[in-house]
Amino acid sequence: MRFTVAIDGPAAAGKGTISRVLARRFGFAHLDTGLLYRAVGKRVMGGDDPLVAARSLTAADLAAPGLRDPEVAQAASRVAVIPEVRAALVDFQRAFARTEGGAVLDGRDIGTVICPGAEVKLFVTASAEVRARRRYDEDMAAGHALSYDDVLAEVRARDDRDTNRADAPLRPAEDAVIVDTSQMSVDEAVAEAVRLVEARL
Ligand code: DC
Repeated sequence: MRFTVAIDGPAAAGKGTISRVLARRFGFAHLDTGLLYRAVGKRVMGGDDPLVAARSLTAADLAAPGLRDPEVAQAASRVAVIPEVRAALVDFQRAFARTEGGAVLDGRDIGTVICPGAEVKLFVTASAEVRARRRYDEDMAAGHALSYDDVLAEVRARDDRDTNRADAPLRPAEDAVIVDTSQMSVDEAVAEAVRLVEARL
């Protein structure tokens, strides 16, 4: 059985949580595609050429410490504007999407570029302030020291770069269902996603 769920949206909108729940509930494989860009960004921070890094990513790169750090997020967003970096990561993501038993991929361009034929497409969003608050709370729990205002500035900088790049910009696919989680609990957003998947299975 092949079944692909594409979940796109800006940073800290709730894509990861929704993806993990769907994967567990339906037995789908899950790929957080942001991790690929973060792994490339981290290697570039260590002095590597972006394209060389994108073409030679290893399992160890994807398990490197600190991939969730705010500066790695910015580095990821910067390498993600380079078309050759994006191109180097396409085949892996498409092959993953075809995993027997179903797959959920979350990112920025899954429904538009990577898997335009996905059975279910969600665009999960929320206001920048709500997302910054969530990320700030997560970062605090993880021991990072950025202020709320710094987190909001980072979220906005990343939104701006991810939305305005020429290649595969962040935007909903025409047939994506928009889920705005600004006023929703996580449980409500997850329930909506589960309903959409069940309707297509
Ligand atoms: O989802 P995330 O916050 O881990 O993503 C980090 C950065 O990677 C994001 O700011 C832009 C880039 N990215 C992308 O361009 N395309 C994707 N499919 C996933 C992430």
